[in-house]
Amino acid sequence: MKEKIEELRAKEAEAKLGGGEKRIESQHSKGKLTARERIHLLMDEGSFSEIGIFVTHRSQEFGLDREKYLGDGVITGFGTIHGRTVYVFAQDFTVFGGSLAEMHAQKICRIMDLAMENGAPVIGLNDSGGARIQEGVVSLGGYADIFYRNTRASGVIPQISAIMGPCAGGAVYSPALTDFVMMVQDSSYMFVTGPNVVKTVTHEEVTSEELGGASTHSTKSGVTHFSIANDLECIEHLKKLLSYVPQNCEEESPQIEYHPSDEKRPSLNDIIPENPNQPYDIKEVIETVTDADSFFEVHKDFAENIVVGFARLAGKSIGIVANQPAMLAGVLDIKASQKAGRFVRFCDCFNIPLLVFEDVPGFLPGTDQEWNGIISNGAKLLYAFSEATVPRITVITRKAYGGAYDVMNSKHIGADMNYAWPSAEIAVMGAKGAAEIIFRHEIKAADNPEAKLKEKEQEYLEHFANPYRAAERGYVDEVILPSNTREKLIKAFGMLKNKAKTLPRKKHGNIPL
Ligand code: HXC
Repeated sequence: MKEKIEELRAKEAEAKLGGGEKRIESQHSKGKLTARERIHLLMDEGSFSEIGIFVTHRSQEFGLDREKYLGDGVITGFGTIHGRTVYVFAQDFTVFGGSLAEMHAQKICRIMDLAMENGAPVIGLNDSGGARIQEGVVSLGGYADIFYRNTRASGVIPQISAIMGPCAGGAVYSPALTDFVMMVQDSSYMFVTGPNVVKTVTHEEVTSEELGGASTHSTKSGVTHFSIANDLECIEHLKKLLSYVPQNCEEESPQIEYHPSDEKRPSLNDIIPENPNQPYDIKEVIETVTDADSFFEVHKDFAENIVVGFARLAGKSIGIVANQPAMLAGVLDIKASQKAGRFVRFCDCFNIPLLVFEDVPGFLPGTDQEWNGIISNGAKLLYAFSEATVPRITVITRKAYGGAYDVMNSKHIGADMNYAWPSAEIAVMGAKGAAEIIFRHEIKAADNPEAKLKEKEQEYLEHFANPYRAAERGYVDEVILPSNTREKLIKAFGMLKNKAKTLPRKKHGNIPL
């Protein structure tokens, strides 16, 4: 027995070395942690159980029969994070560059199946040169097996991807199918075709970083939700994100114990500027209304004219969607609609109530927006809100104009409670534009058209630049003092906690993708 135990220990030690000391050193020299170090930091101390540590590939071609590594370039298993079960895989770049092949893929599929059967999140730490070139089509098949599982698991268990090295070719589609993507700055990139192919096909000269680095995907494409300085911070972000979400679609998010205190926030009474066209920072509103230090912004650098993220209210996890008047006046455009629509759907999948702060002058006009499909993209957000069955509350802080009024979680599309601050203006459009259209003839005929326009603008303002027309019809449930917002919301979400709403029977809807 002693010998057999020695043999097991030796094999375990071999597996833990991955591709060997030299390659581990090379990984460290790039500022990257190894797959095992990442898992060690991610999981609660001593909680990780590895599955498939002795799996190897079974390929014979291109010299692979002489080169085998225990684990086949990916570490898979389960453990806990903050005491909650999580399944994880971490690609080991020191083994064939973390490339994915038959057995590597099988290991990932195994933990995805376990995660689905047992209702717990899956976290993928990606660091891979893509399909293992020597294995050919079985690598492609392996990817497709994973994509299929990503899709089946979507909306059932949370899936989170951290990109901590290369992620190229079709490999990008597994992270893209998951709920959240994080990228580490300067050491990770994602693209369907790399700079060399780009140069050949389009004659563009571009670096990997420009083409698909963290900064590109967090600001331009929106593919990544978080751009993070290094591996350590990425791990911390993963843990934090997980703390807001439930284990699966049947459960609620973890709750933090909360002791009621004075819920009034007087500073909110002074936040809206006298001049209705002057910007203010909606994040100040969010942070003042929600529990201290609980706001966790998602997609921070993309479509900054809308803010989305998680927070806690009286210890309970909520999803926030808020127009940002400090950026493009908080207008809704294509990117903002995509960003918010996807976030709303995540929250709805996982029973996370939605809180909307609304200050929106409308949809962004222009050929760029129209030609690129603001109609179908705006409809995504409209659809996402309309379909959401979680508790939904809106607070109109200032402007709620035009179609954007309807889209931003209005009562008409199923919001449960709609509040407005006294500063709210709920109208078809801004007063100047409205006056120019409806009083066009009167203004033209006036001795002083400019003065007439001003007068008519004022008339329109007096009529609509307030929340009371909407409140008269019950579109707004209550006009509240800003300082009372937190108190009102705690009560209203408490009232809605047993909300049970279902969609009409259908196979699935047809969101305008
Ligand atoms: C097999 C690979 C590999 C791969 C890297 N390696 N990628 N082995 N298949 N796809 C091996 C290298 O041979 C090397 O082995 C080790 O991993 C580290 O690679 P380096 O090149 O030394 O590292 P680095 O300089 O950091 O460059 C990393 C890299 C580069 C940019 C990822 O290796 C690279 O360009 N690899 C090929 C990428 C690629 O074209 N993949 C296929 C994409 S198509 P040694 O023994 O020297 O340590 C695809 C289709 C998927 O993925 C479709 C799904 C639907």
